Amino acid sequence: MKYLLFFLAVGIGCTAADFSHARHAPLKMKCTTCHSSAETQESATFPEMKKCRSCHPDMATREIPSRRVYQVKDFVFFSHARHAEAKTGCASCHGEVMSMAKVELVRPTTMASCVACHKEHKASVACNACHELGQ
Ligand code: HEC
Ligand code: HEC
Ligand code: HEC
Ligand code: HEC
Ligand code: HEC
Repeated sequence: MKYLLFFLAVGIGCTAADFSHARHAPLKMKCTTCHSSAETQESATFPEMKKCRSCHPDMATREIPSRRVYQVKDFVFFSHARHAEAKTGCASCHGEVMSMAKVELVRPTTMASCVACHKEHKASVACNACHELGQ
């Protein structure tokens, strides 16, 4: 039993599902090291296991992400690249992720929440900015 606790303490047997941003905060990695297109494409994307294995060579293969926190429906257009240009920063929508063990929903992905910020920043509130019309 003593030995089992010892192994858990040094993280042997940990898997990708146990990923914590907070545990990685001391490394001062950029968000885009793992979410490679968060400033350049619509989707921010998730890292592949091979990225994790550069530091955790023996980590078991797991599905990444293990769950989803932020997700808009298909009829909504959202682009990370457009928001990177706006320079409001990742935290304006996702909060201080690097201090979270599990990512929590900081800003809901509702229409009211999107539109409130657009009004605040004088960005477009035209229906067809976020929805394709005429279908
Ligand atoms: C640049 C190196 C690096 C990369 C890349 C990296 N990690 Fe880590 N990881 C670390 C360090 C350092 C720790 C902290 C170990 C500690 O706290 O003792 C850690 C801790 C962890 C832990 C906690 C282990 C424990 O003891 O509880 C898990 C789980 C983990 N990483 C998963 C991942 C996953 C999944 C990825 C890929 C998405 C990843 N890591 C990418 C360096 C890295
Ligand atoms: C070491 C790699 C790594 C770094 C660096 C990293 N992330 Fe992550 N991030 C992940 C992984 C892995 C997941 C999926 C966790 C899971 O499976 O639950 C994730 C999940 C997320 C999610 C949840 C998305 C969703 O809808 O489920 C957000 C938001 C996020 N990260 C934002 C950020 C931000 C902002 C930064 C920089 C401040 C950052 N991440 C830095 C690896 C990383
Ligand atoms: C204006 C708000 C906003 C900003 C700023 C923002 N995100 Fe997101 N993020 C979202 C929304 C909304 C989703 C869900 C997108 C979807 O379902 O298509 C999301 C999804 C994600 C995901 C899940 C993968 C994906 O693309 O669906 C990750 C990872 C993520 N964001 C990371 C980041 C990082 C890193 C930054 C900063 C470079 C950032 N986000 C900036 C709102 C934002
Ligand atoms: C933190 C504030 C903020 C939030 C929250 C936010 N946006 Fe934005 N968004 C902006 C700003 C500022 C711009 C203007 C970017 C530019 O024109 O350079 C913008 C631009 C856009 C554009 C491009 C509009 C165009 O005229 O081409 C779309 C589409 C968009 N946002 C969708 C969304 C959706 C969908 C959500 C909610 C899931 C959302 N935004 C949440 C600040 C925000
Ligand atoms: C800044 C982005 C944005 C703008 C502008 C916008 N919407 Fe939305 N809309 C959304 C989001 C996000 C949702 C919620 C999707 C979800 O629940 O995941 C939504 C949902 C909806 C729904 C589905 C019903 C509901 O309440 O969930 C309708 C209908 C709709 N919008 C119509 C409109 C009309 C009409 C306009 C113009 C007056 C408009 N939208 C402008 C982002 C936007």
